[in-house]
Amino acid sequence: MRQRAVIAMALAGEPGIIIADEPTTALDVTVQVQIVGVIRDLQENHAVASVVITHDLGLVAELSERVIVMYAGRIVEETSVADLFDAPAHPYTRALLESRPSSTQDKARLASIPGLPPSSADAVPGCPFHPRCAFAQDVCKTDRPTLTRFDDGRAVACHFYQDILALCSKTAQAPTKQRRAQSDGDVVLKIEGLTKAFGHVKAVNGIDLELRRGETLGLAGESGCGKSTLARLAMGLLTPTSGKIEVNGRQLSGLKGRALRDARRDIQMVFQDPTSSLDRCMTIGAIIAEPMQIAGWDRNRIAAKTAALIKAVGQADHSLNRRPSELSGGQSVG
Ligand SMILES: Nc1ncnc2c1ncn2[C@@H]1O[C@H](COP(=O)(O)OP(=O)(O)O)[C@@H](O)[C@H]1O
Ligand code: SF4
Ligand SMILES: [Mg+2]
Repeated sequence: MRQRAVIAMALAGEPGIIIADEPTTALDVTVQVQIVGVIRDLQENHAVASVVITHDLGLVAELSERVIVMYAGRIVEETSVADLFDAPAHPYTRALLESRPSSTQDKARLASIPGLPPSSADAVPGCPFHPRCAFAQDVCKTDRPTLTRFDDGRAVACHFYQDILALCSKTAQAPTKQRRAQSDGDVVLKIEGLTKAFGHVKAVNGIDLELRRGETLGLAGESGCGKSTLARLAMGLLTPTSGKIEVNGRQLSGLKGRALRDARRDIQMVFQDPTSSLDRCMTIGAIIAEPMQIAGWDRNRIAAKTAALIKAVGQADHSLNRRPSELSGGQSVG
């Protein structure tokens, strides 16, 4: 319920871009399904562009048209969701897919990727994935593969991607129906050469991406690969070490004060941990109203929308004067 509330807050100011950082990770499966429904509704009924950050490839399949797989702060593969499942071109993507639980394969143990990701791609010579890669050759220990982009929009960073692709069975089925083709709307979020260093850790290390109006992009990778850092950079909550971020054609880096707040209106974030996103000292009414205030709405419009929202979740008006902690426990809020 808290996660539904923070998603509703992110939407209240009618932003053009939503970044959802592991929106279902803390939830049980039934609630996950509901949250997926909420995000789907957004995609279908509002022209919102979204980035869904997750380590859950099932969620990527369910919600996105396009996916970027990150490893140690870098992009290792970018592809359509159909190709991700039918023909993964990077060994890391393949390994992630193989470590998903399967309802048809009767394996005693779940496949896993040996070892741990490095704290930073630069800490490993050659390909950052080579110590864990089943396909690694000598060249991988010394030569870093660059991200090669192809005409069909795919991109992959591996010396041997052709061999990996040749292994893919063309008859393999994507787990969900084909989503709509890549959107041709305006570019609403554009990131170029983005890097963020925390001391010697390069949490985000040279990322390029584009998000178009009405499109949903999945961003997948193990814990610590830099997904949340990328999201915070895109929101202007962190300052990049280098690189460019454009929201609706406006350069985010370098903006301060009012100009930054204006630019941020159009991009909203759903944080991984909903509990800490709700200020216990504020009333529910004040929490719901805050994003609309930030969006610059007048008092009457805010009051009307707040009342409509609280009604829409089946709560009485007096709930607006209460605090989040008072809604916990067995109380039904939806
Ligand atoms: N504020 C910070 N200070 C220092 N290191 C950080 C900070 N935030 C993230 N990191 C480091 O950056 C890397 C990427 O973290 P994060 O973006 O949170 O990964 P993910 O969301 O993919 O799990 C990790 O090694 C993490 O420890
Ligand atoms: S470049 Fe080599 S080590 Fe890196 S992913 Fe490809 S095969 Fe594996
Ligand atoms: Mg994270």
